[in-house]
Formats: sequence, C-alpha cells, structure tokens
Amino acid sequence: PLTSRVSPAAAATMPPLPTMTHSSSFLLPSSSPPAPPTGADAENAVSYAVVVLNQRLPRFAPLLWTRARLRVCADGGANRVFDGMPDLLPGEDPDEVRVRYKPDAIEGDMDSVRPEVKEYYSSLGTQIIDDSPDQDTTDLNKCISFITRNPPGPDNSNLFILVLGALGGRFDHEMGNINVLHRFSNTRIILLSDDSSIFLLPKTHSHEIHIERSVEGPHCGLIPMGAPSSSSTTTGLRWNLDNTSMNFGGLLSTSNIVEEEIVTVTSDSDLIWTISLRKHT
Ligand SMILES: *[C@@H]1O[C@H](CO)[C@@H](O)[C@H](O)[C@H]1NC(C)=O
Repeated sequence: PLTSRVSPAAAATMPPLPTMTHSSSFLLPSSSPPAPPTGADAENAVSYAVVVLNQRLPRFAPLLWTRARLRVCADGGANRVFDGMPDLLPGEDPDEVRVRYKPDAIEGDMDSVRPEVKEYYSSLGTQIIDDSPDQDTTDLNKCISFITRNPPGPDNSNLFILVLGALGGRFDHEMGNINVLHRFSNTRIILLSDDSSIFLLPKTHSHEIHIERSVEGPHCGLIPMGAPSSSSTTTGLRWNLDNTSMNFGGLLSTSNIVEEEIVTVTSDSDLIWTISLRKHT
C-alpha cells in the first residue's frame, strides 16, 4: 500500500537498538543511608561519583555528596564546598561540616581555589592535582578524566557521574560543560542545577527515561546540540516526536511536558535531554 513507511526488507536489515534506561532516583530523599547492596541489588545499585564546579551549590548537594562513592572538586569548586556546605546545613557546627564534607580530590588549573582552602583540605588528606599545564581542556573535562582513571571501586560498570554547578553562570562555561557530555558519550554524566537535570542520549541506544514525579518534571526538552536529527521519535510526552526532524534554525523540542511514568526516545542523532527539577527537591 502507498502508506507503507518502511519496506519489510529494509525493516528486516535494521537491528533493534539496545535499550539504555535512565532514572533520577538518586534525587529521592531517604531517611536512612542505603544498606550495602547484595546480589541482584548490587547490580542495580545507585553508584555515582560527584563533581563540584565553581558555581553556587544546589540545595540537594549535601544529600548527593553523602551517598557518593567519590567526590571531586574542580578547582574553585572547593571554595564552594568550603563556604557552601555549612550554609546548606544551618544549625550545625561549620567546622564539623567541613571535616565531614571533605573532597577526595581537587583537580584543575588551581587558579580559582583559595590558598587557605587548598591548605585546609590538603591537611585533611585530600589529593591535590594541579593540571595547569593543560590549557586545552576544561576543569570538568579534567575531573571526568580523573574519575575514569581512578575509579572508586573494583566494579564500576554501573558508575555514573553527577556534576553540580555545571549550569548557570558564564555561557561559555555552560557550553563547555555540554561539550563534555558529547566528548565522553560512553560515560554516564548528569549535569545538575537547582532548576534542571541534563544528560546525553547517545544515538547508539533507544532510551527509556523513568520519571521520578516527586522530584522532577513536568517541563522537559530534547535538543540536537551536536548535529541535526533527521528522525527522532518519542512516547510519553505531551507533544511527541514521530519521525520528526530537529535542528537549530528549525524545530527543537523545548517546553515539552512529561505525561507518563516512562518516556522513550530514539533518534538518528545524539540528543540532549533536559527536565525541570521541583523546587522542594
Ligand atoms: C520518516 O520520514 C522520512 C522523511 O520524511 C521518510 O522518508 C521516511 O519514510 C519516514 N519513516 C518512517 C518510518 O515513517
């Protein structure tokens, strides 16, 4: 029939893409620290490293920091932890807070971290890595390289990286951070601010995004940052894409709304997914 979209022969030669699932369950509060996972739970366990950049700490920074397996500050990000963690935990002794929220490493150019902050953490055993000779990569790039070179445990197959302070502030920094998502497209990296969560959906997979309604949504977007997409298809959104082309100068899916618990996305291009975070998160 004339309405046939893909010939059976063409469909047969297209292998189905493997599915990648995504979830923001790491943002869910829990009253007690998670028990050490065992067996099948260990495979699905939330396991992540945190990177703090030189922007105001999001309000959920203490929660994410406490559950992280590795904590790395990019240069002036160390100032933010030193100054900001006590502010986010009013009523606690600032000195105790600083000892408790000690970075495992400070990595970068070392042109923004205050000398006394560097000294303070160094005396507590934080690893200081001065990468100032490398002017070609951003501090976030250096931190991601550091984590992939120094993974926190024996099994890091499920490890992902949460980046705090990657958004807001200077636009060239924001774009540099988005570029890091594309540079490390095989590593799961999530950029977080008080308002948004952002990650890459590589075209090598079909994607299943599990929406945690208590902490995120409903506003979301799908943006072809690196290259135009000639075909993207979604389910679970108010305005779904159906073999739709997207490019700068043409259509982008911004100000969309999540309608279902699971959103699916397939595309012939790498897409940036972004979703709003709820104010009380
Ligand atoms: C997708 O759109 C393109 C361009 O409009 C068209 O050639 C193709 O047949 C469509 N594919 C499907 C599966 O609808």
